[in-house]
Amino acid sequence: MADMLVHLLTLPDIDAYAAGYHAQGIRVIRAMAPDMKKITAWVEGRFGACWASECAVAFTHQPITCFIAVKEKEILGFACYEATGKAFFGPIGVREDMRGSGIGAGLLLHCLHGLRELGYAYGIIGGVGPVPFYEKTVNATLIPDSTPGIYRDLLG
Ligand SMILES: CC(C)(COP(=O)(O)OP(=O)(O)OC[C@H]1O[C@@H](n2cnc3c(N)ncnc32)[C@H](O)[C@@H]1OP(=O)(O)O)[C@@H](O)C(=O)NCCC(=O)NCCS
Repeated sequence: MADMLVHLLTLPDIDAYAAGYHAQGIRVIRAMAPDMKKITAWVEGRFGACWASECAVAFTHQPITCFIAVKEKEILGFACYEATGKAFFGPIGVREDMRGSGIGAGLLLHCLHGLRELGYAYGIIGGVGPVPFYEKTVNATLIPDSTPGIYRDLLG
């Protein structure tokens, strides 16, 4: 799994994607500390213990470096930054039946704007899965020789 690089000074506007999910009553909001257990349990149930652990790290920062997609009180997706490592984006996951509505792009862009606000000029997407998703939404490019990268000593 390679890493990708994103230029944070030329990020697209969030609104292009937000219109689609706003029309369905879905919002992307910064996670709140009182919801930490609820959110990390949701992540663990759908995406496993490793992603839940990275998500828990996002709750150690102020502001919290995790965004969630919600409809009323229901969690539909999550994404984190500054969790796996400095300047890193991820993990990200959208509930399976809600994919394809722009929620993933909304979560990604909120997090990348968050990284920019921390002062970084570039962000790193660690150990990518869906390369075209990142190429298409934020013009990310694969980093040569980036495998195995930061996850090389992962136990499980
Ligand atoms: C990757 C993921 C977060 C994308 O979420 P999503 O809500 O379906 O994505 P969006 O609807 O915002 O997609 C935005 C654009 O990227 C494209 N896209 C999304 N996933 C894609 C994929 N796997 N391959 C190619 N293009 C993809 C969409 O078609 C859309 O393009 P459009 O603007 O032309 O319509 C979601 O599929 C997911 O949770 N996957 C499982 C977890 C995962 O793999 N996380 C990434 C780990 S690095």
